[in-house]
Amino acid sequence: MTVRSRIIGCGSYLPSTILTNEELSRRVDTTDEWIVARTGIRQRHIAAEGEMTSDLAYNAAIKAMEHANVTAADVDMIIVATATPDNTFPATATKVQNRLGVVGFAFDIQAVCSGFIYALTTADMYIRNGQAKTVLVIGAETFSRILDWEDRSTCVLFGDGAGAVIVQAHEGVGTINDQGILASRLHSDGSKYELLHVDGGPSSTQTVGHLRMEGREVFRHAVTNLAAVIREVLDDTGITADQIDWLVPHQANQRILDGTARKFGISAERVVMTVDRHANTSAASIPLALSEAVHDGRIKRGDIVILEAMGGGFTWGASLVRW
Ligand code: ACO
Repeated sequence: MTVRSRIIGCGSYLPSTILTNEELSRRVDTTDEWIVARTGIRQRHIAAEGEMTSDLAYNAAIKAMEHANVTAADVDMIIVATATPDNTFPATATKVQNRLGVVGFAFDIQAVCSGFIYALTTADMYIRNGQAKTVLVIGAETFSRILDWEDRSTCVLFGDGAGAVIVQAHEGVGTINDQGILASRLHSDGSKYELLHVDGGPSSTQTVGHLRMEGREVFRHAVTNLAAVIREVLDDTGITADQIDWLVPHQANQRILDGTARKFGISAERVVMTVDRHANTSAASIPLALSEAVHDGRIKRGDIVILEAMGGGFTWGASLVRW
C-alpha cells in the first residue's frame, strides 16, 4: 500500500471589483491593444478597501470544503501560499484557521508565484509521512497592494484572488494508475533574486515596498525552467507528454503559457487559461484555474493534470496529478 494525496475538492474567490485595460489606460500610459498583445490580459479583479488576503482565502476555503464535503473538524492542517500576507506576522493561515474553527496547525508558505506548487508539495509530504490526513491548501493574494500604480511595465500584469483545494490521504497501490499527486519537483535559484522582487520589507526598509521586475529576463527564464520541470515530473512517472489531459499553468502571461504548451505538443484546448480575466494572481492563479476547470466539467476523475509555476526568487516547480 502507498499513501497518496488526493485532491478531493476545490473552490475559488474573486473580489467583485473588475478593473479593465480600458480603465487602466486612463491611469497610466498604456493601451488595451498593448496589454492584450503582450500578455493576453483583458481585466483583473481588485480587492475592496479593507478586504484582505485572509478574507479572500477564507471565502475560497469555504467553497473548497463544501465541494469536498468536509467540515472544519475534518481538516488537520492549513497552508496558505501568499506573498501578500495581512500582516508581517502572524501567518495569514492562522487567521483563516480561527475563522474556520479548525483545530490543528496552520502556516504560510512564501514562494511568490510558485507558492501553490510549494504548498501542495508540502501538504503531500505531511500526508505521506502520516503527519496529516486532510489538508486545506490555499493560494491567496492581494497584489494590488504592492504594485506601483505609476509603473506601466508592472501594474498592468497583476490581480487579486484566491483558490483553495482539499488534499486528503488515500490508500493507493503505488502505480501511476493511483489517483492523487504522482510526482512533484521544486527548484529555486537565489542568484536571480533581483530580477523579480519587492523593494521593501520589515528587515530591509521597514516599509512594504513595491514590485519591481525585469520583464524580459523573467520571460526568458520562465519558458526554459518550466519546460525543464515539466520534463522532470514526466520522467519521474514514465508518463509521456501525449498522455497529459490538462495543463494548468500559473497564469503569468499568455505567451509564456503558449510557449510552454507548444514545447510538449499540448494543444490550446488542453491548457486551462484564465489570465485574460484574472491577470497574474501569483500563488492564487493555479487553484483559481483548477477550480474553474473542475467545476465546469473539463477536468474529470482519472485525467492526468500537470500544474506548474515560476516566480520570484526565482522559484519554480511542477506537480503531476491523476485527478
Ligand atoms: N503599455 C505600453 N507600453 C509599455 C507598457 C505598457 N503597459 N509596459 C512597457 N511598455 C513599453 C516599454 O516602455 C518599452 O518601450 P520602449 O521600447 O520605448 O523602451 C516597450 O513597451 C517594450 O518593453 P519591454 O519590457 O521590452 O516589453 P516586452 O515585450 O518584454 O513585454 C512584459 C513586457 C509583458 C512584461 C514581458 O516581458 C513579460 O511578460 N515578461 C514576463 C513577466 C511576467 O510574466 N512576470 C510575472 C511574474 S513572474 C511569473 O509569474 C512567471
